[in-house]
Amino acid sequence: MAYFSRITGTGGYLPERVLSNAELETMVNTTDAWIRERTGISQRHIAADDEFTLDLAEAASRRAIEAAGVRTDDIDLIVVATTTADQVFPSTACLLQSRLGIHGCPAFDIQAVCTGFVYALSVADQFMRSGMASKVLVVGAETFSRIIDWTDRNTCVLFGDGAGAVILERDSEPGILSTHLHADGDYASLLQVPKGVSNQLSAVQQGSAFVEMAGSEVFRMAVKTLGRIADETLAANDMRKDQLDWLIPHQANHRIIAATAKKLSMPMEKVVQTVATHGNTSAASIPLALDVAVRDGRIKQGEHVLMEGFGGGFTWGSALIKW
Ligand code: ACO
Repeated sequence: MAYFSRITGTGGYLPERVLSNAELETMVNTTDAWIRERTGISQRHIAADDEFTLDLAEAASRRAIEAAGVRTDDIDLIVVATTTADQVFPSTACLLQSRLGIHGCPAFDIQAVCTGFVYALSVADQFMRSGMASKVLVVGAETFSRIIDWTDRNTCVLFGDGAGAVILERDSEPGILSTHLHADGDYASLLQVPKGVSNQLSAVQQGSAFVEMAGSEVFRMAVKTLGRIADETLAANDMRKDQLDWLIPHQANHRIIAATAKKLSMPMEKVVQTVATHGNTSAASIPLALDVAVRDGRIKQGEHVLMEGFGGGFTWGSALIKW
């Protein structure tokens, strides 16, 4: 018997505090017009001082669990994609498992920066297809505001905090048709936080481990790579571009999203966009956008949804879903 996975519930959570472009104008040498024109972002959400990645992950997970109508006891795998774990260990997934009152099932984190959710979804799908899991909680949760240099206008205008989650359930027909993952570590220096636990821990403790990005190089690679992976995904499923109903790309920049849609000949009405109000929430961006489009009724049963991610590493990946 073949096992497949289907997304049966989605959830999202954004911190209450909204940071507008106007407020950023008072913090760094930038303008609302520059940010909106170059990125499409008008605001982002920022976690409160006493709010952490785990809190965001828990809120999004509870909403996904409620939407799917599953019992938490029945969840038999938890995968959390995050770059901004609250602790070195235990993993965010283990801490989340405890918050949700689940005991015994495997729980682990995945680190692929902005492609993290697609990586996590793919890994969860492999567990489902092999019969090792039947109800999975997959989360993308980030507090990128904690690794941003708020005096660097090149990066601080781009990012926000948030979490998105899905429940996957076993089905006899595929909801997730295919996933495709890639990475090339040769590009590490173009987008990175160059410090970590075993390298200059004291700098981390002093809060000086921040995102560094070669913006225009990342931009060019993102557009090229997201186009290529869309072609790879369609070919693997013997599908044409015009058979796609929805594109849910990683929400980094409106211009990257528009260029990707153009390569797919998709009108912008078929592209789910949250970058204007969420900013770039890294691993949370795709599940947050999915949750918005599911809850407002845009995505309907039987439709084909292409998710695409690109991020630090570089990492990139896609998931094609029949809703
Ligand atoms: N306000 C005003 N001016 C700015 C700002 C700002 N916030 N930031 C940069 N500038 C200036 C630059 O200093 C530069 O000035 P100069 O010409 O005097 O040197 C000028 O604007 C143009 O800079 P560019 O970098 O060429 O601008 P670009 O059009 O490329 O836009 C941006 C920059 C928005 C960062 C874009 O390159 C981008 O979106 N890159 C990709 C980001 C991304 O997708 N990241 C990947 C995912 S993130 C992750 O994985 C963690």
